Amino acid sequence: MNNSYIVDYRVLRDYCKKLIMTQNVPEEEAFIIADSLVDADLCGVESHGVSRMTIYMKRLEKGVVANKCEIKIEQEYAAGAAINACNSMGMVVGVRAMQKCIDKAKESGCCFITVNNSNHYGMASYFVKMAAEQNMVGVTGTNAPPNIAPWGSYKAYVGTNPLAVSIPTKGEPIILDMAPSIVAMGKIILAAKLGKDIPEGWAITKEGKPTTNAVEASKGTVLPIGGPKGYGLSLIMDILCGILSGAQFGPHLNNMWNDFVNPQNVGHIFCAIDICKYTDVDRFKDRVEQMISEIKALPKNPGVEELFVPGEIEQRRRKERKEKGIEISDVVYQELKGLGKKYNVSFYL
Ligand SMILES: NC(=O)c1ccc[n+]([C@@H]2O[C@H](COP(=O)([O-])OP(=O)(O)OC[C@H]3O[C@@H](n4cnc5c(N)ncnc54)[C@H](O)[C@@H]3O)[C@@H](O)[C@H]2O)c1
Repeated sequence: MNNSYIVDYRVLRDYCKKLIMTQNVPEEEAFIIADSLVDADLCGVESHGVSRMTIYMKRLEKGVVANKCEIKIEQEYAAGAAINACNSMGMVVGVRAMQKCIDKAKESGCCFITVNNSNHYGMASYFVKMAAEQNMVGVTGTNAPPNIAPWGSYKAYVGTNPLAVSIPTKGEPIILDMAPSIVAMGKIILAAKLGKDIPEGWAITKEGKPTTNAVEASKGTVLPIGGPKGYGLSLIMDILCGILSGAQFGPHLNNMWNDFVNPQNVGHIFCAIDICKYTDVDRFKDRVEQMISEIKALPKNPGVEELFVPGEIEQRRRKERKEKGIEISDVVYQELKGLGKKYNVSFYL
């Protein structure tokens, strides 16, 4: 039996889109969901890629997530808005909210938007890329169900709430997209699914013991980056995404993996800063390029071949995988095949 399959990203995206459309999701929205998942696989963020199709399909089928995106603008100002996502799919909400942020920032110079009543939105960089394409700095964050313990405890309270920031350059944008944990919980869940161990220092069991067993770790908590600082960052993201937006926070957020009755009520934040309202765009980009080339020229530690800026490794993978195809593990391949059978979509990967 093969351990993996190479699949063209367009074929994979099209197949996922067709599956999602079986749940009465409009085609344009199904495309966004499929595109964001496949983009995660292109970037090497497999934990947030098509391996999530099974859970999204289950949530759509059970009606615990709305199949059509309807968002309500609850409050709106020149440089901000508060959005109610009405329990829509997080990726579609993310694209709509970031687009609104960009449009408003074109007028006001910057815009900050909160979103409540949403769902898991996947890989955060997908949304900030949109701002960079418009010569804007993009920022987003989301909260997530508890997976990190406050420093000094072993009981999870805050999520692995990621923060992503994009900076336009003359080429591909710099994109920092990071969870405040050593790794995203999604990577541990994927390792458990693939029957793999995880490295020491990633997670502890629910009793607070160190573990390399991905299944035990997925029931326990992920360790924060930089001890109390990672926990602090996660807490601040939860306050902005959860409390400021009016969404749920901490342990009050519902888990998408095991609660098929109650909406998740996830919150997000989005911000766009229009560079031309602050400085000349070419000068900004020239200076960022100078920074990148100065960093690249720094002396390297033994064994290091090249220094990177955030997002560069993912961008290189995206380019390579667009040309050569995406490697899908046998487990995920079989899951996708099974979904085709279940939802009556011909399988052609
Ligand atoms: N939606 C959610 O609820 C949720 C929750 C947690 C994480 N996530 C997503 O999970 C994904 C993975 O998060 P993560 O924290 O495990 O990411 P990661 O540790 O793989 O990468 C974090 C950042 O470090 C940068 N980086 C990595 N190696 C580098 C190097 N050698 N030089 C320079 N920069 C480097 C990457 O470009 C990236 O910007 C993200 O896309 C995040 O948005 C989503």
